Amino acid sequence: MQLSELIKLGVETLKEKNIKTHQIDSEIILANLFDESREKLLISEDKVVSKDKIKYFKEMLQRRARKSEPIAYILNKKEFWNSKLFVNSDVLIPRPETELLIDKLVSLYKNKNPNILDIGTGSGCIIISLLEELKESKGTAIDISIKALEIAKKNAKKNNTFRRIKFEKKSVESYFNKKFDVIVSNPPYIPSYYLKNLMDDVKLFEPKIALDGGNDGLDVIRKVIYKSNRILKTKGMLALEIGNGQYNKVSQILKNNNFREKFLVRDYQKNIRSILSTLDENY
Ligand SMILES: C[S@@+](CC[C@H](N)C(=O)[O-])C[C@H]1O[C@@H](n2cnc3c(N)ncnc32)[C@H](O)[C@@H]1O
Repeated sequence: MQLSELIKLGVETLKEKNIKTHQIDSEIILANLFDESREKLLISEDKVVSKDKIKYFKEMLQRRARKSEPIAYILNKKEFWNSKLFVNSDVLIPRPETELLIDKLVSLYKNKNPNILDIGTGSGCIIISLLEELKESKGTAIDISIKALEIAKKNAKKNNTFRRIKFEKKSVESYFNKKFDVIVSNPPYIPSYYLKNLMDDVKLFEPKIALDGGNDGLDVIRKVIYKSNRILKTKGMLALEIGNGQYNKVSQILKNNNFREKFLVRDYQKNIRSILSTLDENY
């Protein structure tokens, strides 16, 4: 079977299941199988594919077709910032809006060496990306999921930041024996009642513990703000990713906890998706 025939088979199988990204998904799965870029793959369409590879391709295709399993979990791979990260369904798939937050923090802290706490590290995407850029910085990464922490450690080793990050299995509410220059967090922020409305690829595969933000979606956000008030150094920065539409409420919680907003980060649709704030000096 030729490569072009396999792409066609993939596209038709996924189309039948109403998967909108049928073309690109088939190409990505195949490119991964050959360990090549999509672009390179597409110029060798007459290549003959071995039986083993065809079998493997069909298995991956079925995983995508059956319940819309995300490509990142099927391939155990996600590119984020400058890293290639291992992911599986124990961790949230890192999102582009989080990269926008990284971008802002890197521009603010370039040539400085802040001590950074990442609350709810998941795959480790935030702390790893920051430390890759801020070469003299050190980090602490916490999560309540031991499985997520194992993946974060693996990713840090792969991306050469492991020796500068302390990983700890603990909740944001736990005791911290030191203070930080920067606290960054992308906490779970989806209201519990809304989880059932999420798309299948999120609802059926991503860890609930990474999504569920309690009754109003703000349970963990509140805890992060409350804790940051106590463990952020003077002039330190809290960088918090929030859900679309949560800005007004979170802004109020920040004010109530003596934070002063410094920067807002918007996503590609211009929605406010991160708030960077410092402790009010008059506090
Ligand atoms: C939305 S995911 C973010 C993962 C990663 N930082 C990212 O940006 O892709 C939230 C993470 O917070 C963790 N988490 C949930 N509740 C927590 C808590 N109370 N304390 C610490 N981590 C928590 C979850 O296990 C999950 O890994």
